[in-house]
Amino acid sequence: MQALVILAHPAYNQSLANKTIIEELSNSHANLTIRHLDAIYPSYAIDVKAEQELLMTTSTIILQFPFYWYSCPASLKNWLDQVLTYNFAYGPEGTKLAGKRLILSLTIGGPAQAYHPLGYNHFSVSEFLRPFEQTAYLTQMQYCPPIYSHQMDYVPNLKNVKEQVIERAKQHAWQLLTVIQA
Ligand SMILES: Cc1cc2nc3c(=O)[nH]c(=O)nc-3n(C[C@H](O)[C@H](O)[C@H](O)COP(=O)(O)O)c2cc1C
Repeated sequence: MQALVILAHPAYNQSLANKTIIEELSNSHANLTIRHLDAIYPSYAIDVKAEQELLMTTSTIILQFPFYWYSCPASLKNWLDQVLTYNFAYGPEGTKLAGKRLILSLTIGGPAQAYHPLGYNHFSVSEFLRPFEQTAYLTQMQYCPPIYSHQMDYVPNLKNVKEQVIERAKQHAWQLLTVIQA
């Protein structure tokens, strides 16, 4: 497996951006396993052993999600909380993730200029992603530059143009595939 894609999206049926990215990944020749957490674990009861075994079979872990309240959806936080256990991901024998690449791949509603000290979100996207970055360091993973796209929320006649969001999502997926295959 070239990469394991952990997808978190609680409203995937209504998704345009993440769905387009996942479709592009699925249609590519990359050897990927894609796991949609909300579909596999609707009640949040994670099969920790199965998840840990899958993690051990890949060298690249991709966390794919829409930016929710400056972080990830709850299903991904729940997965991190349950799967990255003591002596698996950290602790004296917790080296199972060491050396693996961690790539955050996220879609963001707000425009780039909002993620600036003078913008309405005040902080950069990288600053908001610090907990993920430090999680990679603690678990000895290689934190790769996150891949993210702005203005990805499509609301008919209100926010963004559908074709443009699809185009941005496709470019996002191609960028991700380039990194996966590097
Ligand atoms: C609960 C919720 C929280 C959100 N929080 C943010 C946020 O903190 N910052 C932001 O820029 N966009 C935020 N958004 C917008 C989403 O990031 C955006 O709709 C999503 O990336 C579009 O992807 P999709 O078409 O796959 O759903 C939020 C959306 C929802 C529903």
